[in-house]
Amino acid sequence: MAQINVVTGASSGVGRALCLQFAAKGERVLALARRADELETLKAAFPHLIAVVPCDLASPAGRVAAAAALREEDEVRALVHSAAIASLEDMREMTSASYHAMMAINLEAPLFLTRDLLPRMAKGGRVLHLSSGSAHRTLAGNGLYCISKAALLMAKDAWNADLAGSGVTVGSAMPGVVIGPMQDAARENDHPSSAVFLGFRDDGRLIRPERVAEFLYWLLRSTGDEAFAAGDWNIFDEAHHAEWLDGPLSG
Ligand SMILES: NC(=O)c1ccc[n+]([C@@H]2O[C@H](COP(=O)([O-])OP(=O)(O)OC[C@H]3O[C@@H](n4cnc5c(N)ncnc54)[C@H](OP(=O)(O)O)[C@@H]3O)[C@@H](O)[C@H]2O)c1
Repeated sequence: MAQINVVTGASSGVGRALCLQFAAKGERVLALARRADELETLKAAFPHLIAVVPCDLASPAGRVAAAAALREEDEVRALVHSAAIASLEDMREMTSASYHAMMAINLEAPLFLTRDLLPRMAKGGRVLHLSSGSAHRTLAGNGLYCISKAALLMAKDAWNADLAGSGVTVGSAMPGVVIGPMQDAARENDHPSSAVFLGFRDDGRLIRPERVAEFLYWLLRSTGDEAFAAGDWNIFDEAHHAEWLDGPLSG
């Protein structure tokens, strides 16, 4: 069998950085996102290790295309769900369409892609959900995102209950405040909680995606199953920094 890692959200931010981290370690990756041009640029960095599939993971057809790209001999060592959106909306203005758009990529995509790829997972394989402080507390204008991340965190425990003894473990990790389009949008004036996000930047808390990728790689490869599955790993928790962090966390 040939081992491979599957990463969603691979065209940007954490997902992209994690694909490069896997490849830099000599590991194969299947990189998933919608933007074909960004995926091709990613692939060009390690053409022999990174395969790409442009697909909309919010749709069943997109998930079928992703699963179909695995070769018969491939077994998935890690499946990392980084794809998400964080559109800004007051709960009073929520529509059926805005609700479904958020849940389709933030919740349905990880749930059903995991379900579909379970038969292809390696013994000892790991699924990782990208969580958020928003799974634990909410902010004005961020409600649907928070609801999606809180549900995803519960999904981690639900999977582990049903997968007990199967050899596959599901974990969850908060990447902190990551430099990139999500934080850029949250600092815009029209966000009711923009002061909070401006504060993150002004307090020097922003973290490069490459740092997050180092954290996630350590979490996937160097923790035991029980520890991996426990709680919601927080990049800001200094208790594990000595295990993987070389240099400052932020900046
Ligand atoms: N950024 C932060 O500060 C922060 C904080 C806490 C938690 N998180 C979580 O960490 C994860 C990564 O965040 P990030 O900052 O790296 O985000 P990002 O840079 O905005 O990237 C999001 C990724 O999701 C993909 N995506 C969105 N909709 C998709 C769809 N329908 N089908 C396939 N792919 C789709 C995008 O690719 P395409 O547009 O090409 O499809 C992109 O690659 C997310 O789960 C986020 O919720 C982020």
